[in-house]
Amino acid sequence: MNLDALIDILPKTELHLHIEGTLEPEMMLALATRNGIELPYASVAEVRAAYEFNNLQDFLDVYYQGMSVLIEERDFYDLTWAYLEKVHGQGVRHVEIFFDPQAHMERGVAFETALGGITSALETAHKEMGMSSKLIMCFLRHLPEEAAFEALKCACKHKEHIFGVGLDSSEAGRPPELFSRVFAEARAQGFVPVAHAGEEGPAAYVTTALDDLKVQRVDHGNRAFEDPALIARMVRDQTPLTMCPLSNLRLRGIESLDQHPIKKALQAGLLATVNSDDPSYFGGYVNDNYKQVAKAVGLDANEIVQLAKNSFVASFIPDDDKQKGLDAIDNCVNHAKV
Ligand code: ADE
Ligand code: ZN
Repeated sequence: MNLDALIDILPKTELHLHIEGTLEPEMMLALATRNGIELPYASVAEVRAAYEFNNLQDFLDVYYQGMSVLIEERDFYDLTWAYLEKVHGQGVRHVEIFFDPQAHMERGVAFETALGGITSALETAHKEMGMSSKLIMCFLRHLPEEAAFEALKCACKHKEHIFGVGLDSSEAGRPPELFSRVFAEARAQGFVPVAHAGEEGPAAYVTTALDDLKVQRVDHGNRAFEDPALIARMVRDQTPLTMCPLSNLRLRGIESLDQHPIKKALQAGLLATVNSDDPSYFGGYVNDNYKQVAKAVGLDANEIVQLAKNSFVASFIPDDDKQKGLDAIDNCVNHAKV
C-alpha cells in the first residue's frame, strides 16, 4: 500500500485546529451575503489571492478580517459542521479544537453565540458520526490580561462545554508569563492548560509555557530545538507537541517543507503529532499535512503509524479510549498489510 493510501485510512485525532481557520472562501462570501457584511473581496479567487503571508501577523490580519462574517449561532454551526464532515472522511475519530471568543466579543458577537453554534455541531457529530471532541478556548495574547480574565469569566459559566484554555495570536514579544495569573485562575477553575509556544517566539517561551502556565501540551514548539536541554526535558516528560507543517511553511517559519522538524522530533523520542492549524488558509486539512510532510522529509510507514498513534496518546481522552484508538490503528495496519 502506498503511503498516501495508508494516511487516508489510518484512524487519528486532530489536536491543533482553530475552528475559525476552517472558514473556506466560498463560505466566507456566502456568510458575508447572508449577514450583510462588506468584505474587500469580490470573488473566491480574490479571497485566495490574499492568502500570501510573510509571517504570523500577516496571516492573523486576514484571519481576523475573515471571521467578521460569523455573526449568528448558525454561522458557527455551519462552519464547525463543515470541518467535522470533512475530517470524518479522513479517518479522524476525535478532535480537540480551539476557538477565539475574544475575537468575536470584540466585534459585538456574544460568547454564547459562538459557543452555542460550535457545541451543537460537535454534539451532532458525536450522535451522527461517532466523533468525539473537546473544546479549548484560546486567550488572545495581543490583548491585555484583563480581556483574558473577561473571557475566563464567561467560560466559567459553561464548564460543561469547555475543556481547556489555550494561548494564541501574535507571539513575538508576548511571552507566556504575561498570562501567568489568568492561567493560574483557569487551572484553579478546572480548565486544562495548553499554549502556542515556539511558533515564532524563542525556545524560552516554550520553557515558560511549561514552567509558568503549566501547560500539558505545547502547540507548535518548533523553536524548542534551539535548546537541547528543553528537548531532553520534553522527551523525558513525554510532553505532547502539536506540530502543523503546512502552517509553518505558509507562515515562513521554514523555507521549504523538507526543513520541517517532524522527523527529527520522532527520532528524538518526542511525542509529536501532525495537525492542520488553519486549514482553509494554509492549503490543506490534516491528511494533506501528513502526506506533504511525509513526502518532503521522507517518513516511512512506521513513522506515519507512529504519528497516528501519538495523536491518540497526546489527546485528552481517557486512557481506555486512547487504547481503543491504538487498537484500531493496529487493526487497520494488519488489514492493510503494511
Ligand atoms: N490563531 C490562529 N492560528 C494561529 C497560529 N498559527 N498561531 C497563533 N495564533 C493563531
Ligand atoms: Zn494554532
